[in-house]
Amino acid sequence: MSDVSMVVNGRKVSGTVEDRTLLVHYLREHLGMTGTHVGCDTSQCGACVVHMDGKAVKSCSILAAQASGSEILTIEGLADGAELHPIQAAFKEHHGLQCGFCTPGMIMAATDMIRRHPDGLDEKTVRAELEGNICRCTGYHNIVKAILAASATMAKGSKGKARKAA
Ligand code: FES
Ligand code: FES
Repeated sequence: MSDVSMVVNGRKVSGTVEDRTLLVHYLREHLGMTGTHVGCDTSQCGACVVHMDGKAVKSCSILAAQASGSEILTIEGLADGAELHPIQAAFKEHHGLQCGFCTPGMIMAATDMIRRHPDGLDEKTVRAELEGNICRCTGYHNIVKAILAASATMAKGSKGKARKAA
C-alpha cells in the first residue's frame, strides 16, 4: 500500500491506495471525480488527460503514488464557478462534442496545447497535437474549429492584458 497526498483542483487530498492504483482510478474511485474518463486500456484514447504540475498527462499511465506531491488539474477544476473556461465555451459554441465521452480529455489536452503556443495555433498543428486523443464519434472537424477559436480568443485576451500592463 502507498500513502499519497496531492493537490487536486486546489484542494489538498490524501489517502492510502494499493501500489498499483492508477491516477485515473484514484481520481474517479477514491475522490469521486468522474469527469476524467477511461476509454481504453492501452494508453491510446486520451479520454483520461489531466494536468500534472501544469502539463497534460494521460492519468491512466501514471500511478497515484507517482503523482503524490503534485498539483493535479482535472476538467472539474477548469471553470471559474458558473463561468466556463474559454476552451469549454468554444467547444460549446462550435459543437466540439457529440456524445461527450472524449471531451474532458480533448479539453485538457487543448488547454495545454494553447498554453504551449501562446501566439496562436494553426489547423495542422492542432491536428498533429491531437494525435493522442481519439474521438469515437469522429467529431474532429468541430473539435479542431473549437480549439482554433479558443486559441484566438485567449491570444487576444493575453495581448490585451500585456497592453494594459505596458
Ligand atoms: Fe488513458 Fe485511454 S484511458 S489513454
Ligand atoms: Fe463522442 Fe468524441 S464526442 S467520442
